[in-house]
Amino acid sequence: MKQQLLQKVADKSAVIGIVGLGYVGLPLMLRFAEVGYKVLGFDIDQSKVDALSAGRSYIEHISADSIVEARERGFEATTDFSRAPEADTLILCVPTPLNKYREPDLSFVLDTMDSLVPYLREGHLVSLESTTYPGTTDEELLPRIESRGFKVGENAFLVFSPEREDPGNPNFTTRTIPKVCGGVTEACQEIGVALYSAVIDQVVPVSSTRAAEMTKLLENIHRAVNIGLVNEMKIVADKMGIDIHEVIRAAATKPFGFVPYYPGPGLGGHCIPIDPFYLTWKAREYGVNTRFIELAGEVNSNMPDWVVSKVASALNTRKKAINGSRVLVLGIAYKKNVDDMRESPSVFLMEKLRDLGAEVAYSDPHVPVFPKMREHHFDLASVALTAESIASYDCVLLATDHDKFDYALLAEHAQLLVDSRGKYLTPRANVVKA
Ligand SMILES: NC(=O)c1ccc[n+]([C@@H]2O[C@H](COP(=O)([O-])OP(=O)(O)OC[C@H]3O[C@@H](n4cnc5c(N)ncnc54)[C@H](O)[C@@H]3O)[C@@H](O)[C@H]2O)c1
Repeated sequence: MKQQLLQKVADKSAVIGIVGLGYVGLPLMLRFAEVGYKVLGFDIDQSKVDALSAGRSYIEHISADSIVEARERGFEATTDFSRAPEADTLILCVPTPLNKYREPDLSFVLDTMDSLVPYLREGHLVSLESTTYPGTTDEELLPRIESRGFKVGENAFLVFSPEREDPGNPNFTTRTIPKVCGGVTEACQEIGVALYSAVIDQVVPVSSTRAAEMTKLLENIHRAVNIGLVNEMKIVADKMGIDIHEVIRAAATKPFGFVPYYPGPGLGGHCIPIDPFYLTWKAREYGVNTRFIELAGEVNSNMPDWVVSKVASALNTRKKAINGSRVLVLGIAYKKNVDDMRESPSVFLMEKLRDLGAEVAYSDPHVPVFPKMREHHFDLASVALTAESIASYDCVLLATDHDKFDYALLAEHAQLLVDSRGKYLTPRANVVKA
């Protein structure tokens, strides 16, 4: 069974099933198709399947041309899970959010697996890519697969291989980002490594699925904690009249032992604000409190309030209040040069300012209309930035520093510009750092 699958991977006759065609699944699909594999994509969202089938993309940095090209190479998308036996691999790239109690919500992973279980067949390789706590693959997926009578490692295979996508970063592609992979058994590991090595330059094997799950969490917790630290440093520096960005730039010239992290208005995206709490939750089972994670979470989630307090005091020195002021928020995606709004601190800023009575508008070249979001509602479209429009606001708040903004134009015409990203190093009368 193992040899058969290895052979199919080697001669590219393996059909690659990818389940969940979002920010992670779609680029992976493109890479397998590029190398010459037939890819069968599964998603529960009919509109995504329709878009892909019509050769359209729904992610800004993935071109429609690349979808069309993949389709020409045999890529198909479907909502029909009964087609799972056509695929040799089932790579799961579905969301792993937190519930309202900030605990892991594994429902997407478990629902996906439950929909696939009736269609599992001998020789299937299941790979979970969604970020999750150590033990998920062993404790949740393994028993579901074996409930059908398969023996993992013998006639079905299971690995965990975390995704390391960095949307919008032009320096890395799916191929060039090394990929960690841990299998339930040695045979699982061997197949997992062979599969990913076919499309990725460097595959990093680890001894277990738990080690692979923990690796991804360490990477993201490392970021969350360091961003928390630098956000705290920013508040101290501000009180002392020091520009934290000048300090970070200077410290970053140290050629060893220092990694620069940059403060901002808070954490955003589907990973860094969420993933650390997967470990916090699981650690409780072992009687461990993850204090660094909790502390970083507290500092980071207070940042929008701190930025709003800077807006309030900046308006105050101009004899204005937030209440009744026209405030333009620049950049509502969670990070620069992308259109992804998930967990964006800009949205929290807009809500807080609106709650305090501001007339809020936004400008974002990547988000022309404020999208429908589950918990946030704004009936707004992006404001075009001209000298007149910029000057018409009491305050312009730089929340996400997209490269497409004309920073000179903004500084020249804003009555008041509150900069939460350290774009303006040189002091100006109308620029306040936050
Ligand atoms: N976006 C990133 O940059 C990134 C980076 C590294 C890791 N991750 C992790 O990868 C995972 C996926 O994230 P994403 O950003 O691709 O999410 P996403 O929301 O962009 O995509 C998930 C897709 O899964 C589909 N889906 C949901 N339930 C399904 C089901 N039961 N069956 C089939 N499809 C289903 C959704 O319709 C959606 O198309 C998460 O665990 C995330 O933490 C994301």
